[in-house]
Amino acid sequence: MSGSSEPVPGRPYRLEVLPSAGWARVVAASFGARLQARPALRVCLPTGDTPAPLYAELVAAEGRGDAPFASATVVLLDEWVGLPAGDPARCDVRLRDQLLGRLDGPPRFVAIDADAADPDAAAAAHDAECARGLDLVILGLGMNGHVGFNEPGSRPDDPTRLVRLAVSTREAAVTRYGLPHVPTAGITVGLARLLEAGEAWLLVTGERKASILRRALEEPEGPDCPASYLRRHPRLAVFADEPAAALLRRG
Ligand code: F6R
Repeated sequence: MSGSSEPVPGRPYRLEVLPSAGWARVVAASFGARLQARPALRVCLPTGDTPAPLYAELVAAEGRGDAPFASATVVLLDEWVGLPAGDPARCDVRLRDQLLGRLDGPPRFVAIDADAADPDAAAAAHDAECARGLDLVILGLGMNGHVGFNEPGSRPDDPTRLVRLAVSTREAAVTRYGLPHVPTAGITVGLARLLEAGEAWLLVTGERKASILRRALEEPEGPDCPASYLRRHPRLAVFADEPAAALLRRG
């Protein structure tokens, strides 16, 4: 079936529409429950603006004993290739700043060796780490429909790999970080590994994401919007705040 007007039937996903002021607390509570149920949780985490409030809530939850990270493994979702180690825009640096470095009992952290002489080999090593099993992947949604650095054109069977970044991804990085030389490449956990994970949570906030969220969830899946392939996941939960969910069919 290759019809372009009929939505491709995906698996049912769970949609939670939450208030902008409180969504992160709700997601942190669910995350804390996963950690309590499985202390050795293996979770893949993104960076970016969207998860920052979640990470603040998780730090607070850990302080209360509600989010025990110490036996968990955190696997980084993606990384720029070409930024020097320690650069404040690096994904590993940001995740340490916002979450890992603020925990009393930090998890084992698997960063991406983006400084390796052979980035393809580094990507393959990260792919092998992911293939050992991920219980949970948490994702943000790019304005062009990317998840991780799985840019438009990505396919559901893509492994973790070295990718060329979309122009819009690079422009967003200039705006956000003021980087003089934004990298043209990155390494990302591939859609194949995201779809294999035990659970996938897509976090989407803000009015500006409303249209791409509708594209991802309610129009036929396709490589122009890699996030649309997440509907193949048997346990996908979408956490959207009210403005991001404004264009979705509800009911
Ligand atoms: C970041 C990542 C990206 C972002 C996406 C949304 O690690 O994987 O796919 O999740 O670009 O970014 P924000 O949350 O900044 O809108």
